[in-house]
Amino acid sequence: MTVQDEIRAAEVLDRGVPGEMAGKFPGVPETPEPGPGELRQTPQEIEGPYYRLGAPQRTNLLEQSDKPEIVLTGRVLNEKGTPIPGAVVSFWSSDAAGNYDMVGYRYNGWQVTDEQGRYGLTTIIPGCYEPREAKHIHVKVQGNSSPITTQLYIEGEPGNTDDDFYHPALMVPCTIDADGVKHGRFDFVIKQVTEQENVTPESLAARV
Ligand SMILES: [Fe+2]
Repeated sequence: MTVQDEIRAAEVLDRGVPGEMAGKFPGVPETPEPGPGELRQTPQEIEGPYYRLGAPQRTNLLEQSDKPEIVLTGRVLNEKGTPIPGAVVSFWSSDAAGNYDMVGYRYNGWQVTDEQGRYGLTTIIPGCYEPREAKHIHVKVQGNSSPITTQLYIEGEPGNTDDDFYHPALMVPCTIDADGVKHGRFDFVIKQVTEQENVTPESLAARV
């Protein structure tokens, strides 16, 4: 994170109120209070009806006629703040008109975090669709763990706090560059398998 990013993030003093369904995914426990010195886990939210397996691995979701509208960067961390290399991060969103591609894989792709646990995504700012009020980007993140499913909201876009699922902790603070491109930074915090859990020695060998 650059110093400028830190200053900008600190300026977001009012992230607005959460929607009624913020951080709720039926059947999935809400994230626990962090332990002493731990980071709060990223809240999970609904998957929605449009997640599809089979998307290409890529960090740029732009179609040929698109201009970049938002660049997201960040890391995948465990609760101790340790970066998780090799985590799989899948992003999918609607197009600018609010439609999801259920035939091909427009605005759908996955990537793997680098040695520092970093990811990066260049895409459009999606449209909105009934019954949602907020533009949102769906995400799944998986390390040595079950995948978590969540959504990101974009600072400065209309409708955020009118949306039932809007979660202030999932709002990505953004700067805007001279070309009008938003640059947002967001770190995902996910639980990893621990020694106390019922896993095989082989799977523990791959623990981060
Ligand atoms: Fe959606």
